[in-house]
Amino acid sequence: MKIIIINGPNLNLLGEREPEIYGYDSLEEINNWIKNHNSCQNLDLEFFQSNSEGSIIDFLHQKRKDTDYCILNAGALTHYSYALRDAIAATQLKTVEVHLSNINKRENFRKTSVIKNVCIGQFYGEGKQSYIKAIEYILEKK
Ligand code: DQA
Repeated sequence: MKIIIINGPNLNLLGEREPEIYGYDSLEEINNWIKNHNSCQNLDLEFFQSNSEGSIIDFLHQKRKDTDYCILNAGALTHYSYALRDAIAATQLKTVEVHLSNINKRENFRKTSVIKNVCIGQFYGEGKQSYIKAIEYILEKK
């Protein structure tokens, strides 16, 4: 099963970016931890990070035909990017929304996810474990 794992704006700075909120692991460390996790052993995982909305949308377009599922931490794009929302709908990629932090217990603007309704699930508030929750949810569905 092919799964793409996408991280959006500012997530390249994980480890140094507000570690009290997002943790002390870098994105590379998190990606390696996911790759080596027991739940992921038979999966074909591809990781992508970009700070640019257009590059993430282009990547979804490119991958739409040979990908089974998408795990997406869209960062702040989550809260306002209708273009990203439309790309998920347009590509029909089965997408699970993920966040490290609990977006419902922070600033009000983070409580809105404009991508939620086009995603098949949402996991947040468990740090890097949120990505594994998303993978286990996908594995239960297949
Ligand atoms: C985030 C939450 C977003 O509100 C924020 O803009 C991020 C990271 C998270 O993983 O907790 O960049 O998606």
